[in-house]
Amino acid sequence: MYKFTNDCLTGIELIDNEHRMLFEIINKVADILSDESKSAEEVLKAAKNLIIDLKDYAEIHFLHEEEYMKKIHDPELLRQKSEHAKFTEKVNSVDLKTMDVSRGIRTLQDMMEYLSLWLYRHILSSDTLIGKIEIVHDNPVMLVFSEKYCTGVDIIDMEHRRLFEILADLNELNHEGNTYDRREAVAEVIEELKDYTVKHFHDEENYMESIQYDGLTLQRNLHQAFVDKIESINLDDINENQQVYIDVLIDFLANWLINHIMKTDQKIPADI
Ligand SMILES: [Fe+2]
Ligand SMILES: [Fe+2]
Ligand SMILES: [Fe+2]
Repeated sequence: MYKFTNDCLTGIELIDNEHRMLFEIINKVADILSDESKSAEEVLKAAKNLIIDLKDYAEIHFLHEEEYMKKIHDPELLRQKSEHAKFTEKVNSVDLKTMDVSRGIRTLQDMMEYLSLWLYRHILSSDTLIGKIEIVHDNPVMLVFSEKYCTGVDIIDMEHRRLFEILADLNELNHEGNTYDRREAVAEVIEELKDYTVKHFHDEENYMESIQYDGLTLQRNLHQAFVDKIESINLDDINENQQVYIDVLIDFLANWLINHIMKTDQKIPADI
């Protein structure tokens, strides 16, 4: 059962209601897959209905979300659009005409897996930041680690502090010298950020495992979503306006990190 909890809220009524609908759809699929009394034909019918529902859902919901983001000039609009396009592509790749019983079951299982990842990687990691991204690159004081970000677990706090420092280094580099000079240095700091983030999540998850923390699965999924985002950065794709691209990136990464620490990491108990 996938529960729509406060962690999933964006605070925008229309978007939250539509996300709630997606949770309902996912729970319906989970019910069908676990109900052994369902005949093969019923499962096939359910699979077809699911795809039709998801096509409608993607079309309407993404339109609403993108319109809202455009209206408030949300800097993440482009990144969101490309993630939405991937979802739409996935749903449209299913061919209803050739779907038979065995393919129907496989489609349901495959979509179930995809949708549950979508909940964590997209709704919890990107949508919950809609309208909340604060401009950090112009206000580097936000990149100074302070008491209010502490969790009380020494190793976690130490590593969070280092993540803030790397982001601050990246921001500083992005605003000095000319574009040609800094290109390589920027790439190096991004590499460092990727490596250190992976190391940090690994250490944090190990700590949570050692105290048998029940929020570990949620944390793992959120961490993976962030790693996916950092890994998708490819500076070779950006020919012009690298500086602006990095500014937007820093804003997103810093906001994600601050939001994650304050909403999720601070719930990790210091010791047991
Ligand atoms: Fe959404
Ligand atoms: Fe979205
Ligand atoms: Fe975390």
